[in-house]
Amino acid sequence: DPSLRRLADRAGVRIGTAVDMNALAEDRRYRGTTAREFDSVTAENVMKWESVEPQRGVYDWKPADDLVRYARAHGQVVRGHTLVWHSQLPGWLTSGVADGSIGSAELRGILRNHITTEVKRYKGKIQQWDVVNEVFEEDGSLRNSIWLQELGPSYIADAFRWAHAADPKAKLFLNDYNVEGVNAKSTAYYELAKRLRAEGVPVQGFGIQGHLAIQYGFPEQVAENLARFGALGMRTAFTEVDVRMILPVDATKSATQASYFRKLLDACLGARSCTSFTVWGYTDRYSWVPGVFGGQGAATPMDEEYGRKPAYGALRAGL
Ligand code: XIL
Repeated sequence: DPSLRRLADRAGVRIGTAVDMNALAEDRRYRGTTAREFDSVTAENVMKWESVEPQRGVYDWKPADDLVRYARAHGQVVRGHTLVWHSQLPGWLTSGVADGSIGSAELRGILRNHITTEVKRYKGKIQQWDVVNEVFEEDGSLRNSIWLQELGPSYIADAFRWAHAADPKAKLFLNDYNVEGVNAKSTAYYELAKRLRAEGVPVQGFGIQGHLAIQYGFPEQVAENLARFGALGMRTAFTEVDVRMILPVDATKSATQASYFRKLLDACLGARSCTSFTVWGYTDRYSWVPGVFGGQGAATPMDEEYGRKPAYGALRAGL
């Protein structure tokens, strides 16, 4: 009964999962299954800014260190997630910007320090970093975040340069959702990546989150999208795949879900650029979906009791 990681190894791709550190601490089955099935792990939350620096200058690296240690013990690589994002920022930072006590010049120094400190801490231990996360809107315009408002669009190139200086060997990624296929948003990333690389900015990868929902259909032109980033000389990766549905589950929905997992995996395996395929949790026991998308769920390859769903079989069959 081969594990996903064993099959992935033969197929020449990494198979990963987001890891919930509370579950890892409490649940033996979760620890065992995470080690058995996956050869890449991503911190679901504990490397985000609000987790690592909850108060200004006060760091909490413990859960992130624990994940890095777990990965090493189980022969897994780590994807770092994420350095620059508009969400899950510490309160001291967002309120300081809002009340004007942190001005733009200071904020730029704070961002530089954050990136440098975190990337250096895990230097040599993180294979790929999601340097910037979710910087475009659906129409391809830059997201109106505090980063854009306070620092202007150059914050993106700066973030990659600072991350590269802190760990020159880590592969540095852009990352977003709704960019599986060719559309306005993925095209904005393509144009950005092309321009940054022409300017010598160290951006090496395009991360496609892959949060799908069966009621919205499967995205168009996924292979073409991966191919165009590959043609820029970049790596690609599926970084957060899950396939949610409107509950309750039935056999038809489960079959559709399985086919979506399989089609994303096939796209990755069919693209030379695509080096890893990561699911955003593998058991419904700990999935983020029900808490965020009302009435939806069952988005992962295993049910709440670690039972293998058709989606698990589809991944296994595809590898
Ligand atoms: C989610 C986590 O899964 C949740 O536990 C948390 O409450 C919110 O963030 N895109 C990303 C991830 O890049 O970091 C998000 O993770 C899901 C969407």
